[in-house]
Order: sequence, then C-alpha cells, then structure tokens
Amino acid sequence: MAEEHRPPESFRLRLRRYDPESGEAPYWDEHTVELEGHRSVLEGILQAKARFDGSIGIRCSCRAAICGSCGVRINGEPGLACHTHLDHARSSSSGGEGVIEVEPMGNMPVLKDLIVDMDAVHWKKIHRVTPWLINRQPVPEREYVVERESMVDVTQTMACIQCGACVSDCLSMEVDPGFIGPAALSKAYRFVGDPRDAQQRERLKDLAADPLGIYDCTHCFKCVQACPKDVNPMGQIMRLRRIAGTDQGIDDPHNGRRHEEAFTTLVRDYGLNHEAELLARSYGGNSWFGKFHPAAARELLSSVSIIVKAVMRRKVDPRIALLGHRIPPKDLQSVRTIYERVESRPRRNELNLYISGAEEEGDSQEAHAQAPAPAAAQHPAGGAQGSVQQ
Ligand code: SF4
Ligand code: SF4
Ligand code: FES
Repeated sequence: MAEEHRPPESFRLRLRRYDPESGEAPYWDEHTVELEGHRSVLEGILQAKARFDGSIGIRCSCRAAICGSCGVRINGEPGLACHTHLDHARSSSSGGEGVIEVEPMGNMPVLKDLIVDMDAVHWKKIHRVTPWLINRQPVPEREYVVERESMVDVTQTMACIQCGACVSDCLSMEVDPGFIGPAALSKAYRFVGDPRDAQQRERLKDLAADPLGIYDCTHCFKCVQACPKDVNPMGQIMRLRRIAGTDQGIDDPHNGRRHEEAFTTLVRDYGLNHEAELLARSYGGNSWFGKFHPAAARELLSSVSIIVKAVMRRKVDPRIALLGHRIPPKDLQSVRTIYERVESRPRRNELNLYISGAEEEGDSQEAHAQAPAPAAAQHPAGGAQGSVQQ
C-alpha cells in the first residue's frame, strides 16, 4: 500500500546553544522548520542549520539509529535525534506550548551546542573495562565451539551502539562522575558472559573491588528507560553482581555484596525494607555479631547528621525506622511464597530476554532478533532475569 502523503507542517525547535570558547553563557535559540511530522528531530535541526544558522553544532552520521552519534536530550529525555519523530516530540513537549526543546546529553562536557565530549567520559569508561576478548588458551586451530545459548546470552549487550544515552541519564554518575557507569558495565558483561574469555573471574574481582564499580549502581532504572536499543544496562550490572557474588563468592572490600544481600533478606523477613537492621545485616549477616560490628558502628556514626536531617524534615518516621514497617501477615506470606518458589528452582534461569521467536525446523543456527520485552525481575536479588524463547 502506498504511503499516505502528509503535507509539511511547522515545528518550533528550541535548541540549547553553548560555545565554551566564547566565554558566554548557554542560551536558547528558536527556529521554525517545515517538515512532515514523521520526519526526525535530526532532520529538523539540519534544516534549521541549512536555512537559518550554519553554526548550529550537532553530530550525526547514519541517520538510521545505528551509529549512535546523534544522542541528545529531547524535552528533557535522552534519545537519538534521528530516531525521534517530530510529531511525537511535539506531543511530548512540556508546558503545552508545542515547542520541541533539544539539549546536549548530560553527564558529559559540552564541546559545542548539542555536541558532547564522548572521549572525556563515555569512551574513557569503556576502555576501563578491557573491552576486548582475552582468548582462552590454547587458541583452537579453527573456530572456538561454544554452546549456542551462551552466545545468545551476550547478544543483548552486543546491541549497544555506544550512543551514551544511558550515561547521560545515570543518577549515580551525576553524583559520582567516577562511577564506571551503565554503558561500560554492559560492555563488561559482554565479555564476562562470553565462554571464550579467559579472565572472567579477574574481570569480576576487578569490578567488584572498585568502589565505583558494580556496587555503585543504585537501581534507578534510568539507563533502562534511556536506552534506544533495549540493552537493559542495569540488568547487565545486576547479572555481573550475581555472577561475582552468588556464583563465584567474590567478596568486595566495600561490602557491596553483603549490603545487597541485606536488602534481599530484609524483604523476605519483613516484607519491606527495615532501615534499622540494614546496616547491621550489611556487616554481619543476620547475626548478633553484625549488630556490633565496629565498621557498622562507624558508618552509623558518620550518617548521624543525615539521619537527624531526614527526621527533622519528616522524611523518616523514627518509630517506623526503628521498629520496621509492618505489613499484614497474609501479604508477608505472599512475599515469602515468591522467595520459596524462586529459591527452590534447581538453577537460576536468567538468560537475556532479547532474542525470541519461533525457531524453524532445520534452522538451528539462526536466532530471530526482536525488540525485547522489558526484563522481568523473577529473583529476590532483583534485576533482569528470564528465559530465552526460541
Ligand atoms: S540503574 Fe544504575 S547504572 Fe543505570 S542509570 Fe541508575 S544508577 Fe546508573
Ligand atoms: S547501552 Fe543503550 S543507551 Fe547505553 S550506550 Fe549502549 S545503546 Fe546507548
Ligand atoms: S545519526 Fe546515527 S544514530 Fe542517529
């Protein structure tokens, strides 16, 4: 069927302009472009550049959501300019004005207008995780033969186009720019999950020991929402944690593994988090020793001013914080049933939910890639888990 002809419409673009070398502050620059609504925000910017101001800075290459170079923020949300329709962007504009606001990505320094310095942040972090395969020895004369499922498992991370949208929105990175971050940690999983790699354990030990590594993610889900390729970076980080902590028993010097376990057991025992016990369990498991661990006491003392502030601002109810939240016994039983069901499984089942579809007979080598469903949390430890359906 022939595509319906759509007449050009007017779209107002408000672009964030900034030239660090000029010494002037950033400012907004508005242009009206004429294009069909299904054309991209990138095409709108390029038309504004061609018709009104050739000095507008925007980076792009493929214009087909493949190269990852046109990452920007559109109406405050990270995304690819070439992969966002003008009419969709207009309908998501804030303030009811119908103006499409385009800004450079966050967490990276601006080079000019909408172009950020990917080398200074994104690529530096990618290099941090040794982003190449370290061959198992001896290298076979011909190809390595690996189980098909193991390669399916890393396919989701291989879909990354290095656009930096997840980095732009990462809340941990905003607070702590040294955090290795969602894109680089997803890349790390790509090799940790690859059976041909010889240094899985060394990689995991390194990422667990780094205070800005796998335990520095706060599960905010922003990277999951930001990613235009459904790589699910947070899910990859959680999988790195489970392989490091649960499977390989790697303890980190910053107590990240125990802290995570503390949350898991608290929810099992109380149905909700119990703030007063969190620190003790993080240091000593469920034992009395943990409650009197000197490191726990030190951390508690260092947090006293924050706790007092939270109580004064009524963000924390001291009674609930000390005694714990109470949920009705039948709800608590439902929570425990989930734990029992998951923990009684003979093995953890967490292949990525990226590849699905029916496998045709005699076509065992071909996997059919489709857009993934959002990863479902099926394990008390949280994160992306599920099964590959073929
Ligand atoms: S889930 Fe973790 S890695 Fe992803 S944006 Fe939030 S803090 Fe960053
Ligand atoms: S994980 Fe997704 S958002 Fe992050 S760099 Fe890769 S493609 Fe972009
Ligand atoms: S120009 Fe390549 S992803 Fe947008």
